[in-house]
Amino acid sequence: MDVRKAVIPVAGLGTRFLPATKAIPKEMLTIVDRPTIQYIVEEVVASGIEQIIFVTSEGKSAIENHFDYNYELDHVLKEKNKILLGKELDMISNLIDIVSVRQKKPLGLGHAIWTARHIVGQEPFMVCLGDDLVYSDVPCAWQMLELYREVGESIVAVQRVPPDQTYQYGIVEGIDNGRERTHQVKRMVEKPAPGTTDSDLAIIGRYILMPEIFDMLSSTTPGHGGEIQLTDALLALSKKRKMYAYEFEGTRFDAGDKFGYLQAIIAYALRHDELGELFKVHLKDVAATL
Ligand code: UTP
Repeated sequence: MDVRKAVIPVAGLGTRFLPATKAIPKEMLTIVDRPTIQYIVEEVVASGIEQIIFVTSEGKSAIENHFDYNYELDHVLKEKNKILLGKELDMISNLIDIVSVRQKKPLGLGHAIWTARHIVGQEPFMVCLGDDLVYSDVPCAWQMLELYREVGESIVAVQRVPPDQTYQYGIVEGIDNGRERTHQVKRMVEKPAPGTTDSDLAIIGRYILMPEIFDMLSSTTPGHGGEIQLTDALLALSKKRKMYAYEFEGTRFDAGDKFGYLQAIIAYALRHDELGELFKVHLKDVAATL
């Protein structure tokens, strides 16, 4: 069965980015000229997904508004003859069919995904975290969907991280399955204590999941940090069905973290059509003064 829907959880509190995120969702913080969440929605659209399900919470309405039609703004732009700008806003509100569901308490990523179960239904679906950016020539979601068409099972996107950083991630232990960049999952552990795993394959914010994950999430008890962890449910699912870890091509940025956010701004600014060259010269000037 084809993957038609993408769940994008955006209900987290964003505490790592306070005070910036006290009143503004972290997913709405700007990377060069658009909010983080728009890059993610554009990746999903470019990969052929038909519907997005935002898992939201109180204070996140700016995200829904960003992808909605704004009559007043449209009217003013037309009056001022700002046609191109009007078209761009039109494009954003027509990108894709979007529905929202509320996570009433921030009980963790696993719980956020479980909240979308009635809208997803009994079909495989994609999950893209609302603060995880992947810069790549071929959209990361597209790369994963290509693999899904071959294997027809759950897939987690992974990247290799230095051994002293594995404790910050969900880590996959897998075996090579012959296909380039692809491993069959054997074991998974959320934020392993140093020295407890030999693997450097860290899970990042892109998944393709079989609908059975909802049963696993229903019976998952709070894990690390008192939250319902997706990794725990993934581990349970991987024991029932095959699961794959895919080393995507591209660079991932954790835009929900201050340093990751700064790295993302630099990467996207350097490749920006209008500003890229100018910014490169500026960065060289800055570097010369350091
Ligand atoms: P994070 O752990 O990065 O989000 O979750 P957070 O909890 O907002 O971050 P900090 O640690 O407090 O800064 C990854 C994604 O999952 C969503 C977040 O919005 C983010 O996009 N999430 C997390 C939920 O939707 N609900 C939750 O209960 C937790």
